[in-house]
Amino acid sequence: MIQLMPILEENSKEPLYIQLYQYIRDEIVSGRIQEGTRLPSVRQLSASLEISRTPVADCYELLLAEGYITSKPRSGFYVIPFQEHLTLTPRTELSFLKNAPQTNVLDFHYDKVDLIHFPYKKWNRLNSSCVTPENLQLLQYGDLQGEPGLRSEIASYLHQLRGVRCTPDQIIVGAGTYHSLGLLFQLLKDEVAIVGTEEAVNVGVQDIFNQFPSISFCPLTLEKDGISIDDLYASRAQAVYVTPSHQFPFGMTLSKEKRMELLQWSKKQDGYIIENDYDGEFRYNNRPLPSLQSLDEHEKVIYLGTFSRVLTPHFRISYLVLPHHLMQHFRQKKHSYNQLSSPILQMTLQLFMESQDFASHIRKMRSVYQRKYEILLHCIHSTFGQGAEIIGQGSGLHLLLKVRNEMSESQLISAARREGVNVYPTSVYWLNAKDAMTSTVLVGFGGLSEEDIQAGFAKLGKAWGIQAR
Ligand SMILES: Cc1ncc(COP(=O)(O)O)c(C=O)c1O
Repeated sequence: MIQLMPILEENSKEPLYIQLYQYIRDEIVSGRIQEGTRLPSVRQLSASLEISRTPVADCYELLLAEGYITSKPRSGFYVIPFQEHLTLTPRTELSFLKNAPQTNVLDFHYDKVDLIHFPYKKWNRLNSSCVTPENLQLLQYGDLQGEPGLRSEIASYLHQLRGVRCTPDQIIVGAGTYHSLGLLFQLLKDEVAIVGTEEAVNVGVQDIFNQFPSISFCPLTLEKDGISIDDLYASRAQAVYVTPSHQFPFGMTLSKEKRMELLQWSKKQDGYIIENDYDGEFRYNNRPLPSLQSLDEHEKVIYLGTFSRVLTPHFRISYLVLPHHLMQHFRQKKHSYNQLSSPILQMTLQLFMESQDFASHIRKMRSVYQRKYEILLHCIHSTFGQGAEIIGQGSGLHLLLKVRNEMSESQLISAARREGVNVYPTSVYWLNAKDAMTSTVLVGFGGLSEEDIQAGFAKLGKAWGIQAR
């Protein structure tokens, strides 16, 4: 029998089954475990690694679903001949599912947006109107802070939509939220040693946290109306990271009371609030609460947003709104900062925002997503009834589903995948993996058509063996 010797980290944010899955998959892809090899049984491997059987069984389940191994009755698990593998790129974040070259898969990934309604003709026209003899300077390096015209448009857009009070001078255009957050922590790292953060956080954001070892990121309990303010005081943090409009991934909204308490905390402790409003544009059936930045009287709220949801993630355009004193800090340091967002793309976006088309695109997308969201809710209720609980409703482009059928998270994902449906784990988002919710998957709906949402849930009903009563 072959010996498997992965290095597993109990305290890692990656669940054990994912760590083990990655190790065995890499051994197979690199040829270190050859085709036809019989893997140790679940019992043997769990005994040799001194871990429970569940992560081993979950890992084998995933390797089976991915097509790396096969199971022979009463014999064991065998590595499949190489040409039969699905060729997967090495996994980063959740890309082991995202990058799998499957066809006809119904992909409920949370970061997909609707492209059917993207006004590409208009966009192309504006884009080509940017490169003219008068505008050739756009082909040079751009403004490190972002093109001034675009910053003006962003300032007025944020004021109208989210009540944000700022001048274009306070805005820094970035190449996506992670880029903007990385820049922000560069500016904060000399004055901030502890940052309180929601205890479950987007994996890309966690990666940014990990790039700043001098800052300690302290998880704060998530209650049904947002972070625990008691935890925040106890953490002695000098800054706090929150997604108040639509917590990622849980989807709760930070209540009005907590918003006021958070601002009180900021005033008392002179602490920064980092407000990530990544999908604040999309709320269904209820009015948005004001942004924290719009309520701040002490210049302590740092507001962060992106065009990835409202338009498309392809553009890689995000923005930071900084208090004046941090802006001065940015100006001193700005030459060590690289502006990654193309000036031509920025100008196209500026023209698009100046036209009526941007506002009408947002209105249209609100109703498109609202309809998809209602269909999704209907599908969940009619397919599963009491067999599944929805977590996080009323806004954004995703929700969580806690499934009551005794399957673990990885079993739910693997079973769905065998039916040609991708849903995604939630355990990876917890800063302390042991706190993760069980049997809960993340379901995004932005990129699927109404018909595909319905077809997907018919398949999930079959995959998970639950019928509404
Ligand atoms: C919490 C959070 N912030 C921001 C984003 C968008 O990131 P970006 O602007 O890099 O596309 C996402 C994407 O899913 C997210 O989950």
